[in-house]
Amino acid sequence: LGARRRLLEERVRPFPDFPCPGVLFRDITPLLKDPIAFRTVVDLLEAHLKARYPQIDFIAGLDSRGFLFGPVLAQRLGIGCVLIRKKGKLPGPTESVSYALEYGQAELEIQSDAVEPGEKVVLIDDLLATGGTMCAACELMKKLKAEVLECVVVIELKSLKGAEKLKPFPVYSLLQYD
Ligand code: PRP
Ligand code: MG
Repeated sequence: LGARRRLLEERVRPFPDFPCPGVLFRDITPLLKDPIAFRTVVDLLEAHLKARYPQIDFIAGLDSRGFLFGPVLAQRLGIGCVLIRKKGKLPGPTESVSYALEYGQAELEIQSDAVEPGEKVVLIDDLLATGGTMCAACELMKKLKAEVLECVVVIELKSLKGAEKLKPFPVYSLLQYD
């Protein structure tokens, strides 16, 4: 696991002061560009989820970088993928939750019929920073009375304490930074 994790670390580029001063942006584009690294991410997440949860009904991907991993992971697990989108993108009846970002303010939405009450869902995004985005996604699942098994991210920025904000929902991350 150590060597695989190191490969992933090598494929994440830090960019200081993007998209605004004081923010260190962790860029995953080299990871997506390298098929072995990308496959490793999916392998590790698949193995973790299969070992940890006997039944998962859906993977829910968070707009937009969660969409890079959610559908691929869902295919591996042989289950469906549902979309949690930024406001105004989904047709039909929706539920929405507004939240504060590391930089700015936003609103997430889900179609009201995306998941049924009691269904077991794993949420996935590329990165956990303050946890505002993932928290809003958990709130949406609560509104639909679905059960959040776990919040999965590729990268967790530990110093921003997103995992604490998300309690009691468990967080699983592949790479951790301060
Ligand atoms: C980034 C990242 C996470 C979120 C993490 O998304 O992809 O979704 O911020 O921050 P938080 O834990 O402080 O909420 P962003 O809103 O920049 O949009 P994108 O995924 O559409 O690029
Ligand atoms: Mg995002």
